[in-house]
Amino acid sequence: MIPVNRIFLNENPEAKIALTAGSDPPFRAVEIGFGNGEFLEHVAMARPEGVFFGIEVSLHCAMKAVKRIQRSGCENVRILFGDARFLLGECFPPEWLHAVYMNFPCPWPKSRHAKRRVTYSGFADVLAGSLVNGGVFELLTDDRIYAEEVARVIPAHPALEIEEICLDPKRDIQTKYERKWREQGKDIFLLRFRKKIPYFSGRSKKGEQELHSVLERACPTFDGLQSLAEMEGGEHSCRWVFKDSYVSTSGVMLLETITSDDGFRQSFFIRIVPREEGCLVKIDALSRPFRTPSVVMAFERLVDHLRCEIT
Ligand SMILES: C[S@@+](CC[C@H](N)C(=O)[O-])C[C@H]1O[C@@H](n2cnc3c(N)ncnc32)[C@H](O)[C@@H]1O
Repeated sequence: MIPVNRIFLNENPEAKIALTAGSDPPFRAVEIGFGNGEFLEHVAMARPEGVFFGIEVSLHCAMKAVKRIQRSGCENVRILFGDARFLLGECFPPEWLHAVYMNFPCPWPKSRHAKRRVTYSGFADVLAGSLVNGGVFELLTDDRIYAEEVARVIPAHPALEIEEICLDPKRDIQTKYERKWREQGKDIFLLRFRKKIPYFSGRSKKGEQELHSVLERACPTFDGLQSLAEMEGGEHSCRWVFKDSYVSTSGVMLLETITSDDGFRQSFFIRIVPREEGCLVKIDALSRPFRTPSVVMAFERLVDHLRCEIT
């Protein structure tokens, strides 16, 4: 059974086991960037037999929506706090969702911010791999340029087709941003896409990647680990930096690490544990970052460094 009223706040991607264990509800949907949660509440109330996941990157919004959902007594909503660019592909089984909704996403109009758009590169593939055959992706936006871009990019994927583009749609629910833009007399565009053929995305499940390495060398000295402070690296807009180190009386060490993937920032610890012969390097279980490219790069860099360089 899916646990009732569980709120997943930046939990381990393995949470999907808990999300989906047992019998699947007959309708499964996600809203990306739910803001104050009123659309999520509305669709969940309308279909009590379904389960509705909300993904939101703002903790303030996530907590507001949690309160709203708790007040409403809705038992079929799950809130996930984090960046949908990573969570959509990591938290659900393949070909499992019947619908993905996005209401008034931030359009990030400047080209240097393009990668922050949820629908930027790779999204269509993740979407196609996440939806059941026949599943839909529904987007509402007030931004014509953004609407045109999405209308071009999504159907370029072989498994996805555009079903409808509608100007000024009438729906049972208006979100906060929809009310705001309508009051200002803006055009509203609805775009609906459908998955037309089965498609299993071959994307690598970074969330399942074990970041765990046993080294045939003794633990580094604390001074050696501290010397890594401010070491940084990365590629393009995926960056990482090592910060402070800590050591326990039993010799376990923690290295604070900060990463950013296209503006999605995470802060966590890498743990170095002495073993009889050698040492174990792993991501600290309490900090549970999503296995984004920069997290993997930082981890691999530390392991390389421990193998060859610091004492
Ligand atoms: C303009 S608001 C729209 C809120 C709500 N959907 C509405 O229509 O009133 C965009 C929302 O998307 C969220 N958001 C932006 N980027 C996101 C991402 N990568 N993952 C999840 N949520 C995101 C923002 O925090 C914000 O709450």
